[in-house]
Order: sequence, then structure tokens, then C-alpha cells
Amino acid sequence: MLNIAVLVSGGGTNLQAIIDSIENHKITNTAIKVVISNNKGAYALERAKNHGIPAECISPRDYEDREVFNQALLARLEELGIDLIVLAGYLVVIPECIIKRFRNRIINIHPSLIPSFCGTGYYGLKVHEAALRRGVKVSGATVHFVDEGTDTGPIIMQKAVPVYADDTPEVLQRRIMEQAEWQILPAAINAIANGRIKVCDGIAAVLPEDK
Ligand code: GRF
Repeated sequence: MLNIAVLVSGGGTNLQAIIDSIENHKITNTAIKVVISNNKGAYALERAKNHGIPAECISPRDYEDREVFNQALLARLEELGIDLIVLAGYLVVIPECIIKRFRNRIINIHPSLIPSFCGTGYYGLKVHEAALRRGVKVSGATVHFVDEGTDTGPIIMQKAVPVYADDTPEVLQRRIMEQAEWQILPAAINAIANGRIKVCDGIAAVLPEDK
């Protein structure tokens, strides 16, 4: 059984997609041990509670400095025996101490086709504004492992979505969530839980499902 922690900051629609996929057995061999937010008011915490999943707020504001917060977060993840950390709209930078301890055991969902529209400053609607400004005809989402860089870790899965001439950033964001993010994030977790992801020389390979 893969014990996962889902880290969130906001609405939690990706968290909801993971919960639904576990409940309808699209994700197997996986348990959400905890949902952690840096923000007490995150609706994602309510979503977790509604499904009987432990939900906690661990906020940098409640610690004397960033290093103490980082160590508290790491300690909690270790105490719970977490195998995989899933960043699902988590707006806090993951510290090096956690990246080192969880090498290739942290995944993130990013709302573009990496390496386009990613890196420092590309989050939320800014990603979609940049895509529209550049006039791309496809965008999409990427699930990747987290390393020390920003959006630079091994790519696990991607899904492309069309961009239309009259899209607003909000419309494009919604289409990418519905058609890409809510599908590939659960699919990536399921592949990891079933031993189908291998990382070699910085490249992640997805092995086919046994039929
Ligand atoms: C998503 O667009 C995701 O790609 C990004 O943050 C957003 C989170 O949305 N990393 P939600 O909280 O899952 O609804």
C-alpha cells in the first residue's frame, strides 16, 4: 500500500480527483494518510474531512522561522510513514531537506506542457496568460518529480489540450484542469503505486499496465 500525503493551498479540485479515483478504484494500492495545507482556510481541507481523511494545517506563520517550519513539516511526514508526497496546488516552496529525504518520492502537477511556461513566476493564471500571449495552439498539464529546481524534475506524464482563439486565461485554466490535470495526476499516482514508474539518469519511464 502506497501511503500518500497530499499538500494543498487552495480549492483542492486535484485533491478531489485523487479522492474520487481511489473511491472508484481507478487508483489502487493507495491510501491518503493526510492532507496538509499551509492555509487554514483552504477548501481542500474541507474536501478531505468530508471523506474522512485526516486534514491538518501546518503554516510557516506558526513557526519562529522557515527552518523550524521546514523541520516540523518533514518530521510530520516521516512520523506518518509517508511514501509519496503529492503537491496538488501547494504554493509553498519545498525545502531541500524534504527533497533530499524524499528523492523521486515527491510529485507535482503543473498546468502547462513543461518546458513551456514553467519555472519561477509561472503559477496559477500567470501560466495561462503567458500561453495565450505567445499564441500557442496547444497547452496542457505535466506531472513531474520534484527536484531542487523549479519545475525541472523528471517528467512522468503529460496531456495536451487545445487552445482556442477566444480563450481567456480562466477558460483555458478550466479546460486544462478538466481535460488534463484531473486525469494525469491520478494516473501518475496509480502508476507509482503499482510500480510502473522507473527513473534512470533523470528520465522517468512509465511501464505499461498488465492486461
Ligand atoms: C492547479 O491548476 C495546478 O495545476 C496548480 O495549482 C492548481 C491547483 O488547483 N499547481 P486545485 O487547488 O487543485 O483546484
